[in-house]
Amino acid sequence: MNTEEIINSEQEYMLQTYARLPLAIVRGEGCTVYDPEGNAYLDGVAGIAVNLLGYHYQPVIDAVCEQAGELIHASNLYYTVPQVELAKKLVNRSGFSKVFFNNSGAEANEVALKMARFYGRRKYGNRYKFISLSRSFHGRTFMTLAVTAQEKFHHDLEPLASGVRYADLNDLASLCQVLDDEVCGIIVEPVQGEGGVYPAEKEFLEAVRALCDEKDLILIFDEVQCGMGRTGRFFAFETYGVKPDVITLAKGLGGGFPIGAIIVGEKIVSITKKGDQGSTFGGNPVCAKAAGVMVDAVSQPELLAMVRERGEYLKKELHLLRQEFPGVVTDFRGLGLMWGIDIPGKAKKCVELMLHQGILVNAANDDTIRLLPPLIIKESELALIMNGFRKVLPALKMPGIG
Ligand SMILES: Cc1ncc(COP(=O)(O)O)c(C=O)c1O
Repeated sequence: MNTEEIINSEQEYMLQTYARLPLAIVRGEGCTVYDPEGNAYLDGVAGIAVNLLGYHYQPVIDAVCEQAGELIHASNLYYTVPQVELAKKLVNRSGFSKVFFNNSGAEANEVALKMARFYGRRKYGNRYKFISLSRSFHGRTFMTLAVTAQEKFHHDLEPLASGVRYADLNDLASLCQVLDDEVCGIIVEPVQGEGGVYPAEKEFLEAVRALCDEKDLILIFDEVQCGMGRTGRFFAFETYGVKPDVITLAKGLGGGFPIGAIIVGEKIVSITKKGDQGSTFGGNPVCAKAAGVMVDAVSQPELLAMVRERGEYLKKELHLLRQEFPGVVTDFRGLGLMWGIDIPGKAKKCVELMLHQGILVNAANDDTIRLLPPLIIKESELALIMNGFRKVLPALKMPGIG
């Protein structure tokens, strides 16, 4: 099928929930993807923080093919080897106690919230509320939507799941205002992704940790997007030096295969009972095998150091870009290989223009471009992305465009 045929079929047969760009991807290699016509696109999005080691990463392909030949699925009625091996790797890597697997980021957060509520109910009886932070995004199931503090995701879905209070990111006073005796947990993205790439401040996370210790609350770090090496450490909590009670992972964990994980400390272990949670596919042998390869690869200190270096490079480049395009590029934020670039009102237009240049970037919303390239991206490839911006941004200065 060519691009036009693919787009036509999608429109004819698929429920129209996605506002897709007019690009069909049929294969990839390194940080480049190709459409059916053979056109190449340099990828600054990595399948939304999934293709951490780029496309066609041979060790994952080999592991998955081998596992598929052995056992594709068995269910969680029984034990399987890839799952327990992956759990051991994540426990050793994190220094936490235990792991539970499911299939996606939303599901991982859903389980994390359930565990926090189990803790609150089982230990205190009346604790059930969650606090989440402005601009957060935690998924699209009903509970994760409720803790997603962005109204645009709530439209026409009210009433949302109850028991959620919102506070402002990096504002402890606003958090204390909504804290009462019925709160069981606080959910935080250490670096917010979908909201436009807003890193939490270290002092804020430290203060939230101290508060959770004082009140015996469960602190959940949603590392679905910012974990797995993206900040330049395996876990984002390591970048901040603040340890939560629960970490959620998904996206890049499976190297493209769907798997989510929650990693918990002793507080959660102490209240967990058989039957508290289950999943048909969670920790499926093929996905777990792929994830095992990813955990080993992303743990490499050389790779993590490179992510931090690339982050410094991008920071300098974005500083220059803002100077070169005053009034168009108004701000930028981020760390490692996770950056938001504010181009108010014109982010979506910018994405389209970049696509015409053969470069994929994402608009977190109409005001902010998000860069989430594969962790293996070279400095020369980042330079190509920056030059792409230099080519398209002059058009966005002109009145009437965007
Ligand atoms: C921080 C964060 N949490 C949760 C999710 C939901 O993950 P999924 O789409 O795998 O359900 C996302 C997805 O973008 C995310 O960025």
